[in-house]
Amino acid sequence: MTTAVDIRDVTKIYSPGSNQAVKALDNVSLTINDNEFFTLLGPSGCGKTTLLRLIAGFEQVSGGEIMLFDKEIENLEPNRRPVNTVFQHYALFPHMTVANNVAFGLERLKKPKPEIKATVERVLTLVKMKELGDRRPNQLSGGQQQRVALARALAPSPKVLLLDEPLSALDLKLRQAMREELKQLQRETGITFVFVTHDQEEALAMSDRIAVMSNGEIQQIGRPTDIYEHPVNRFVADFIGDTNFLDGEIVDLNDDLVTCRIGAQSLFETENSGHHKVGDQVTLFLRPEKIMLSVVDEANDSGKRPGKVKNLVYLGNQAAYTVDMGDGIELTAQARPREDGELPFAIGDPIAVSFSARALKVLAQ
Ligand SMILES: Nc1ncnc2c1ncn2[C@@H]1O[C@H](COP(=O)(O)OP(=O)(O)OP(=O)(O)O)[C@@H](O)[C@H]1O
Ligand SMILES: [Mg+2]
Repeated sequence: MTTAVDIRDVTKIYSPGSNQAVKALDNVSLTINDNEFFTLLGPSGCGKTTLLRLIAGFEQVSGGEIMLFDKEIENLEPNRRPVNTVFQHYALFPHMTVANNVAFGLERLKKPKPEIKATVERVLTLVKMKELGDRRPNQLSGGQQQRVALARALAPSPKVLLLDEPLSALDLKLRQAMREELKQLQRETGITFVFVTHDQEEALAMSDRIAVMSNGEIQQIGRPTDIYEHPVNRFVADFIGDTNFLDGEIVDLNDDLVTCRIGAQSLFETENSGHHKVGDQVTLFLRPEKIMLSVVDEANDSGKRPGKVKNLVYLGNQAAYTVDMGDGIELTAQARPREDGELPFAIGDPIAVSFSARALKVLAQ
């Protein structure tokens, strides 16, 4: 596997030495493979744009190094790097037609005219905008403008495309449609995509791998399922998806199972990962969709726990239930509406709650 972008121990400090110094990146290391759809995910201010700007060459690293296809690029001007960027605010030139916007970069590279014409046509076709080449940006919808910005960035055939929250200006429906299109574009072109977002759903839906960042540090790197199912810490578990956190103490364990006490006296079993001992204070997490809710039926409720519906939020295709488990424990769970569309439980209903030991996980930290 070829490495497209190799980020080694990169630190970035803005205004170093002054009282306004900001450490935007702290010892960040990651490798992005060629032909990969790689996402940088994290909350506002965590350093995502900074990392993109370093790869693009608009900023210099304060420490560490960045290699592109095994070449040190520290001294390479931005326009000499095999990289192009789609910015968060995809400023198109308002006075130019769509086609001229796309041609602009190629003209600056002094490409021959016939080649420019062919490339513009090819990339506009790729983003499904071929028919609108003569329009100006203000005659386009937001989604169409976004496609032009993409075409413009693709035109010089970069080996790596950096995309800084390119969908954030679009409404939900369009954003979802563009997700598919971007993903398909990446597959078709084979270009390495480094995609920045603070939207976890977008990251899960599109990426081959995700790096979760907070405060200038990488928290976890992995495939979407790794990140969702096996978050390494509370930050990642909390940032990705909805989660129940339960604080407890390990009171017993054997080869297979760990028993935790939560609240004053409630015992829960989870799989033994081999990293814990009796007496450890731990945080457990449990995804809402892993919890089964059912109507109380004493004859068949062995292994289930009693609970009571405290609150519910109707979401159309499902409802989110807050369940009071007693002993100060509350869980959020999900249930689908019945076939007639009505919800299976109401506030105040007693219900039976179950989940497997496998679904309940001990967080490493
Ligand atoms: N030119 C700059 N000078 C000083 N500090 C900066 C500069 N650019 C960014 N920062 C600071 O560096 C940190 C990281 O900023 P960055 O723009 O990389 O975050 P981000 O993850 O892209 O956030 P967002 O999701 O809001 O775009 C922030 O604390 C920000 O205030
Ligand atoms: Mg940003």
